[in-house]
Amino acid sequence: NKIGVIFDLDGVIVDTAKYHFLAWKDLADHLGFEFTEAHNELLKGVSRVRSLEILLDIGNIELSEEKKQEYLVSKNDHYLEYIYKMGPEEILPGANELLNTLDALGIPYVLGSASKNAPLILKQVGLFNRFAGIVDGNSVSKAKPDPEVFLIGAQKLHLLPEQCVVFEDAIAGVEAANRAHMISVGIGDAKTLHEADFNFNSLTEIPDNFIEILMRKTAE
Ligand code: G6P
Ligand code: MG
Repeated sequence: NKIGVIFDLDGVIVDTAKYHFLAWKDLADHLGFEFTEAHNELLKGVSRVRSLEILLDIGNIELSEEKKQEYLVSKNDHYLEYIYKMGPEEILPGANELLNTLDALGIPYVLGSASKNAPLILKQVGLFNRFAGIVDGNSVSKAKPDPEVFLIGAQKLHLLPEQCVVFEDAIAGVEAANRAHMISVGIGDAKTLHEADFNFNSLTEIPDNFIEILMRKTAE
């Protein structure tokens, strides 16, 4: 049975959440309020513009559109300083193995990320050419939890949504996959991601026969 896989990037393939955190925290420091790791959870899977809005809400700060634009640029410049230092060693455990398994089974996979920096990050870690297609923050108009990013991913895979499996670490991402009528696999805390069809703490915990099980599930 035909299936395809759509991977989220940040938190599934690489751990860039820590760099987003450092860059957002720097902005919060500059604006004079505290920004914690717990706050950062709220920004996972969320677009850059929406992230700034959430951050400003936390700090109870209102800014002009001009100032917001300025901070979006400076935050990203700061974030990119970390990204340019990334290399293949920052690929999360289990990711290469999973891609190898999919290659061996002839199952195609694409990227479905909210990040406008996704192509750069994939190049930094040497995975850019492995994906059959890339859907990122530059190619979607509606951010997760809207299913748009994954529906475009299904088109790139030439598959129906029901034939697609999504790996996600964010609540908004799992919701987007479910709304797209795809099989959702939550990577991370099972309580946080309880809306996912399957849960694993990390990619390393995925059983060898998991993909075959999914192939059978889509045949039902
Ligand atoms: C991913 C991350 C979010 C980030 C978003 C936009 O979804 O999980 O934390 O805000 O991408 O990333 P960008 O690189 O475009 O700022
Ligand atoms: Mg993510």
